Amino acid sequence: MNPNREIDMAGALEVSAPANAGSGNGAGVNQFRPDGSLRHLLTLEGFTADQIHALLDRAQGFVRTLGRRPPARHSLQGVTVANLFTEPSTRTRVSFELAAKRLGADVVNLEVQLSSRVKGESMLDTVFTLESLHVDVLVIREAEVGVLDMVASNVAPHVSVLSAGEAHVSHPTQGLLDALTVRQYKKRFDNLSIAIVGDIQHSRVARSAYHVFRALGVPDLRIVAPPAFMPKPDEFAGCSRHAALRTGLKDVDVIMMLRIQKERMTHAALPDADRYFAKYGLTPERLAVAKPDAIVMHPQPMNRGIEIASDVADGPQSVIRTQVRNGVAVRMAVLEAVMEQVTVE
Ligand code: NCD
Repeated sequence: MNPNREIDMAGALEVSAPANAGSGNGAGVNQFRPDGSLRHLLTLEGFTADQIHALLDRAQGFVRTLGRRPPARHSLQGVTVANLFTEPSTRTRVSFELAAKRLGADVVNLEVQLSSRVKGESMLDTVFTLESLHVDVLVIREAEVGVLDMVASNVAPHVSVLSAGEAHVSHPTQGLLDALTVRQYKKRFDNLSIAIVGDIQHSRVARSAYHVFRALGVPDLRIVAPPAFMPKPDEFAGCSRHAALRTGLKDVDVIMMLRIQKERMTHAALPDADRYFAKYGLTPERLAVAKPDAIVMHPQPMNRGIEIASDVADGPQSVIRTQVRNGVAVRMAVLEAVMEQVTVE
């Protein structure tokens, strides 16, 4: 038996033990190189405000007006990026693909449906195959907690691993694009009230938003959810908790709506759509409780008429399309940052 295989499988088995689902990942992986540069991006937990602002500054440089052509940029020429998605996604995959291509990289897209019993081993087999094909960056979306850490712990030193969403625990590029959007509209973070609303319990978007806004020093962070969607008390430390939109949205600057994650619930746990909307749907009347210049965000895809009314989603306070545009810029920034120290011959 190949001795490397044994080591790899040990890693796989270790992570398939029940991971600490709630508190995020990245525990065993150093995301930074000894020189301080970013190598992997699996979670925003532990990032400093300076590290986040550096990425946002870089991303801001890639933001451009719709319809305007970008200056030619080749910082990823010779680099190969593989998008490896084991959960369906269109938006995030396309966003990473365009980001990589706009920097001159070669891109391959793989959709893999693996049975979870053999997943640890099969995922590594796929990863080593891609490494042999000279893939330098692996962008992975994964439904199981810990697989991304396992991959990052096993790849060759020149290879970077970027999370495109890990189960319910983290979605770091979404967190960064949300922070970039807030920074564009509100300029600073140290005077903001931000409400994260809806299915917090099942949401990786909420967890990455929590990490990034805490690191950026947002003083008033609120989570607003029905009891069934409230996370456990040991999560979201420092956030105030609200069961009603009336108090949760009072005078906030930013409202982050979340999608109800139907795929993470049993049929019995699914709320009735009409009743949910009646109590938790963001309507123009409820939005009026927030500051007059409050912005409304949503990671998409939206369930219109369930968590958000179309009037609000398409209304003047909605910045949902700006978020999508910022998504490409943020992913360009992250790709460029992780490849900066790697010499391509
Ligand atoms: C989010 C996701 O997949 O986590 N969407 C996205 O990345 N565009 C949010 C969601 O699916 O609710």
